[in-house]
Amino acid sequence: MKLPQRVTVCEVGTRDGFQIEPDFIPTDVKIEVVNLLTATGMPRIEVTSFVSPKAVPQLKDAEAVMAGIARRPGTRYSALVPNDKGAVRAVDAGVDDIHTVVSASESHNLANVNMPIADSLAKLEATAQVALRAGKPVYSGISCSFGCPFEGDVPVPRLVSIVERLVGMGARGIGLADTTGMANPAQVSRVLEHLVARFAGVEWTLHTHDTRAMAIPNILAAMAMGVTHFDASIGGLGGCPFAPGASGNVCTEDLVHCLWAMGVETGIDLDALIAVSKRVQEIVGRVLPGQIAKAGKWTRRYPLPDGVQARLGERPA
Ligand code: COA
Ligand code: ZN
Repeated sequence: MKLPQRVTVCEVGTRDGFQIEPDFIPTDVKIEVVNLLTATGMPRIEVTSFVSPKAVPQLKDAEAVMAGIARRPGTRYSALVPNDKGAVRAVDAGVDDIHTVVSASESHNLANVNMPIADSLAKLEATAQVALRAGKPVYSGISCSFGCPFEGDVPVPRLVSIVERLVGMGARGIGLADTTGMANPAQVSRVLEHLVARFAGVEWTLHTHDTRAMAIPNILAAMAMGVTHFDASIGGLGGCPFAPGASGNVCTEDLVHCLWAMGVETGIDLDALIAVSKRVQEIVGRVLPGQIAKAGKWTRRYPLPDGVQARLGERPA
């Protein structure tokens, strides 16, 4: 299997995850989680979003969270914005990178940001201007890149034309988001084959949700196509409030464990990450979908049952 030597993980749990939590998570607890994630050596954290507080009340404290976190050199702190107003807020709050969002599906875009794709793209022009004038790199995510829970198939030519517009605005990276876990690995390969050859120099990120247990297989397919940036959320938190059936992102510690087991570097301390997942489960008050926090790493060993130990001892060496 041909694997990259190194992969960059972006933790999105405090944004994509917390945004769907029904009970307000106090600002100091959000700050604590970002600081714990920072301490694992996480290279990128999407801390929060600067969206309408009416649309996502959970993240209404975005400024206070950004102001409260302790930054580590070597970690880049970003936030999601839907429009130029969000970009102004994010720049003022001191984010390192701006993440924008538009959907490849008309119906999901209307549900998510209350405007047609064309209006979103026009707003994102202004958004990118704000970010680039402030010297902040822009990474543009495309929701429902591989399928829409309302419309089904998303034609690749539509995806291509949206990428073209976003790259034209100066996006350094494009995030292909499988918002409701509809993609399969063969499809991920096929779509990337179209895009990677066509847009040289773009940094591709795969943003997965594990709704149908295909997130890690899809990541492996993307890695085989040369993609080395992946979003993930601690414990497997998450889901889009504006996409029915959406569930959590690929779980960060499960992904980092898989990469570690295969010898792919991430720069992340896996044991520390598992401890953060346990803390987040305490905070949200439920068991999260991640498997490694339950099973332990593959190197975990158990004592032999009594009878077996005795019988092994009888066997000639
Ligand atoms: N931050 C804070 N407030 C914002 C904002 C932003 N980025 N953008 C708009 N608003 C405010 C406006 O100032 C206005 O406030 P007012 O009612 O007090 O005058 C109000 O929101 C409505 O503004 P409008 O431009 O008409 O937006 P809208 O109601 O059509 O909503 C979005 C559009 C994009 C702002 C909203 O749908 C949104 O924030 N969506 C985010 C969805 C999301 O986070 N999804 C999950 C991640 S993919
Ligand atoms: Zn998502």
